[in-house]
Order: sequence, then C-alpha cells, then structure tokens
Amino acid sequence: MDACRGENPVCAGVRNDVRRRCRLRVAELKLQVTALLGFLTFLGADAYDPLDPNGNITIRWDVVSWTPDGYVAVVTMNNFQMYRHIMSPGWTMGWTWAKKEVIWSMVGAQATEQGDCSKFKGNIPHCCKRTPAVVDLLPGVPYNQQIQNCCKGGVLSSWGQDPAGSVAGFQVSVGQAGTTNRTVRVPRNFTLMGPGPGYTCGPAKIVPSTTFLTPDRRRKTQALMTWNVTCTWSKFLASKNPTCCVSFSSFYNSTITPCPTCACGCENKRNCVRSDSKLLSTSGINRPRRDGVQLLQCTHHMCPVRVHWHVKLNYKEYWRVKIAITNFNFRTNYTQWTLVAQHPNLNNVTQVFSFDYKPLVPYQSINDTGMFYGIKFYNDLLMEAGPLGNVQSEVLLRKDQDTFTLKQGWAFPRKVYFNGEECMMPPPDLYPFLPNAAHVGARVALDCFASCALLVLLLVVL
Ligand SMILES: *[C@@H]1O[C@H](CO)[C@@H](O)[C@H](O)[C@H]1NC(C)=O
Ligand SMILES: *[C@@H]1O[C@H](CO)[C@@H](O)[C@H](O)[C@H]1NC(C)=O
Ligand SMILES: *[C@@H]1O[C@H](CO)[C@@H](O)[C@H](O)[C@H]1NC(C)=O
Ligand SMILES: *[C@@H]1O[C@H](CO)[C@@H](O)[C@H](O)[C@H]1NC(C)=O
Ligand SMILES: *[C@@H]1O[C@H](CO)[C@@H](O)[C@H](O)[C@H]1NC(C)=O
Ligand SMILES: *[C@@H]1O[C@H](CO)[C@@H](O)[C@H](O)[C@H]1NC(C)=O
Ligand SMILES: *[C@@H]1O[C@H](CO)[C@@H](O)[C@H](O)[C@H]1NC(C)=O
Ligand SMILES: *[C@@H]1O[C@H](CO)[C@@H](O)[C@H](O)[C@H]1NC(C)=O
Repeated sequence: MDACRGENPVCAGVRNDVRRRCRLRVAELKLQVTALLGFLTFLGADAYDPLDPNGNITIRWDVVSWTPDGYVAVVTMNNFQMYRHIMSPGWTMGWTWAKKEVIWSMVGAQATEQGDCSKFKGNIPHCCKRTPAVVDLLPGVPYNQQIQNCCKGGVLSSWGQDPAGSVAGFQVSVGQAGTTNRTVRVPRNFTLMGPGPGYTCGPAKIVPSTTFLTPDRRRKTQALMTWNVTCTWSKFLASKNPTCCVSFSSFYNSTITPCPTCACGCENKRNCVRSDSKLLSTSGINRPRRDGVQLLQCTHHMCPVRVHWHVKLNYKEYWRVKIAITNFNFRTNYTQWTLVAQHPNLNNVTQVFSFDYKPLVPYQSINDTGMFYGIKFYNDLLMEAGPLGNVQSEVLLRKDQDTFTLKQGWAFPRKVYFNGEECMMPPPDLYPFLPNAAHVGARVALDCFASCALLVLLLVVL
C-alpha cells in the first residue's frame, strides 16, 4: 500500500488524489501478483484458495476394535473450511479397498450399492463392492441406529459458520481385512463428492492414534490404529462456469451496473423459464431432481445467484452499503449460505444489520476479507427463485480517512464468493462513476501506467 508514499521517485510531484489512485493501482497490481502466485501454487499443489489457505476436509478412521476377520472403525469427517459447506443432498464418500475387504455393517451411514455378494452364504455383507460409495442417513433415524455426528442428510456446515455442525461421523465394520495393525491395509483412492465434484483427496496416512475421553471425562482411551485423509476443494474441478455474479449501484449515479451478460454461461438459455411463465404453477416444478438438473429463471446473466452491492449513504465518518442476494434457481433452496467479500474497508465494519459477520484473516497482516451468513432461523435459508428468493442486509463501515473515496469504484468489493464459489464481477470500466470524475481518469491512468510499468519491471528483475 505504501509504494507511492515518501520518497519513491515514481510518485514525486503527483497530485494528491492522483497519488491515492496510484496507490490503489499499485495495490491492485500487488493483488494480481498475489493471485498469480496463487495460481502457480495451484499448479503445483492441486488446489489453493488465497482467502482460505488452510481450508480442507479431513477424514479420519479410528480402528476401535479388531474382529475375527477384520475391524470396526469410527470414521469422522471434519470440515475445516471457513466458508465452504456441503449442502443437501449432501456428501458421498468413496474409496477403493486394498484387498478383498467387505463391509459387514454400518451405523449412521450406508453404502449406496450392495454389489455382488453372491460368494457369501448365511450372513450377507452390507456391501461387497471394491469401491464403495457411502452416504449419510437422513435425520430422524431410530436412536439405536445412530452414532455421534451422524444422520444429518449429508449436510456439513462450514467451520466459520457452525463449528459444531462441521463434523460428520459413521461406524463401519470391515471383514476379510487384516486383524492387527501390521496386517491391515489402508483403503486407497478416497473420493469426496459434495454433492457435485470439486474435492480431491490425498492418500490415507497412518497417524498417531487418536485418544478419546470417556463420557465422564475421567479416563482416556485410545484408538488401536488411526489414519487420516485430507481432501481439498478446487474451483477448476467444481464447475466450468461461474455460479454467481455481482451487480453494483450507488446513491451518486443512477446507472445500475448489471452482471456481465452470460456471466455463468448461456448454454442453458433455451431451458430457462421466464418469471411470468405459466409453467411455474405446475405442481412439482420446484422439486429438486435426482439427476441434479436445475431450472433457472431467464436472465441476461443466466446465473443461479446474483449478489448486488449498493453504496447507499455517505456520512461524515461512516458509509453504508446494502447487500442483496437473489436466487434465480427454481429447484434449489440455499441452506446455510455464505457470502465472502474482499474490500479494504472491511477492517472497520461497525455494524451488520441483518446478517451475521465474521472477519477472515488468512494472513495476519491483512484484514480485508470477511464472511456474511444468515441469522439462524431468520434468513439462513435463501429460498428458491420467486418472491421469497432473496435475502438482504445493510453494513455500516467506519471510514479510514486516508483511503476512503467514492472515486474509481473504490467503494465496491474486490472479490465476492457465494457458497465458496467466486462470483463474476462487472468489468471495472462499467462501475458507477462519480459525476465529472471522467476527465481526471485519463491523466491518472497515464501516471499510474508509468508507475505500474516500473513496478512490473522491478518484480520481473527481482
Ligand atoms: C487441514 O486443515 C487444518 C485446519 O485448518 C490444518 O491444521 C491442517 O494442517 C490442514 N491439513 C493439510 C494437510 O493441509
Ligand atoms: C487427523 O485428522 C483429525 C481431524 O479429523 C485432526 O484433528 C488431526 O490433527 C489429524 N492428524 C494429523 C496427524 O494430521
Ligand atoms: C502396532 O501395535 C504395536 C503394539 O501392539 C505397537 O507397538 C505399534 O506401535 C503399533 N504400530 C502402529 C503403526 O500403530
Ligand atoms: C487409484 O486411482 C489411480 C488413478 O485414478 C489409478 O491409477 C489406480 O489404479 C487406483 N488405485 C486403485 C487401488 O484402484
Ligand atoms: C424450499 O423450502 C421451502 C420451505 O421449507 C419448501 O416449501 C420448498 O419446497 C423448498 N424448495 C426446494 C426447491 O427445495
Ligand atoms: C478485523 O476487522 C474487524 C472489523 O471489521 C475487527 O472486529 C477485527 O478485530 C479485525 N481483526 C484483526 C485481526 O485485525
Ligand atoms: C480501522 O481498523 C484498523 C485495523 O483494524 C485500525 O487500526 C484503525 O484504527 C481503524 N480505523 C478507524 C477509523 O476506526
Ligand atoms: C454513471 O456511471 C456510468 C458508468 O457506469 C457513467 O457512464 C456515467 O457517466 C455516470 N453518470 C454520471 C452522471 O456521471
């Protein structure tokens, strides 16, 4: 941020407001460099989210007893991602057995297919597939068929929103397996769908055995053996197109900057439904489909979700933003939705009126990102497209007098994520302009171009 302060020769003689813009441009450039580094890291490490660098889902298997032909394991899945959750219809966990293991029985979850158990007489296993796919049970199963953290219909909250809801668990009884910690073979090729693609899982690693406290907390017990699997999310796997877009408006300019046209791809435009269509009164039209096919309202952007950021008021020491999220998807209710925004003034959020807010500080020094989410039982459900398909709130921010400006789109967010997916933003030249700022723009652009070019040069040289 300070690249244009003090005796930096690039900035000598630059007028004050020019200097401010210049600083912004340099900051932007730094951001782009960060993004580029992020991308390079992605190429190396498969997945990297600069706003949640430590986010992952960890699957832990604790062998709790040996059986005559195998073992019983308690499987725990922790979502350590700050703002990415798994929504209904929930997660599916898969793996490949290393040998000829079978699943005798499960508690708190079930395999989607039994597979070919024709070799067995008498007792028939729950699943004989070499690559089982396991799903959670629905809430409300009888108490004796439950286990801790199970039976949430596959829903896994994000760590930032609801740590208690960010854990899933089930128990599996494995046969035709090793019966000591030297003969057991850990499963391979773990997969996690949530409910669509997006996650990649690493290999299972044997780790120090988990210790448990007994319910009365007076005794510690220990798993006989433990292995962990870490799964990370990558947008490149999740979807080809963005799934949300951002539009802008402000009190100082009556132009609304819409979402970019076809922001989420226009391939499905032929199947969209106009909001006044008679089709919408057909019964069952909103029912989510088994094959996951969505039904979108016709819009020029064709996004299932739009986030609108309105700069509403400018007080002496504060400014006020209104945020509205609109659902254009007739077949999806977004439960426990999250919205992440990046803006330099989020370090001074004073009040958020009808959402919850939590700052995200992935790097200790920069406090420019935060997550908004619905208030439980009030607006944590973003309803299907239609008259109820929106949620909104206002945010009061305290100005930092050094950086605050309405010029050049400063008041608009740098990045927006809905449910962990980055939203498509309008191009910067279409942001609502402050009246008569246009002619200053050209000069500033030139000054900045010079300094930015130099910065790039420096970066390249270094
Ligand atoms: C997974 O996330 C947790 C919590 O952020 C972190 O402590 C752990 O190091 C991560 N694991 C990997 C393999 O990245
Ligand atoms: C294994 O996963 C659990 C979460 O399920 C985590 O708390 C623990 O730190 C992990 N162990 C290692 C060695 O990564
Ligand atoms: C296996 O169990 C033995 C004791 O039965 C223990 O000494 C050893 O550390 C265990 N190995 C692993 C990998 O857990
Ligand atoms: C695991 O997956 C990789 C690639 O997807 C494949 O080459 C390998 O054979 C699989 N391993 C097992 C045990 O199925
Ligand atoms: C959304 O939730 C409402 C109220 O719970 C329900 O009536 C409606 O069927 C749901 N819609 C979808 C698409 O699941
Ligand atoms: C980040 O900003 C929020 C206000 O938006 C503040 O409450 C929080 O203490 C700040 N955190 C850090 C680490 O500066
Ligand atoms: C804004 O937040 C930063 C860091 O959180 C703090 O140092 C600064 O004093 C705040 N500014 C105002 C005007 O409150
Ligand atoms: C409002 O902003 C638009 C750009 O989005 C700009 O073309 C227009 O000139 C601005 N209106 C005024 C009155 O400055």
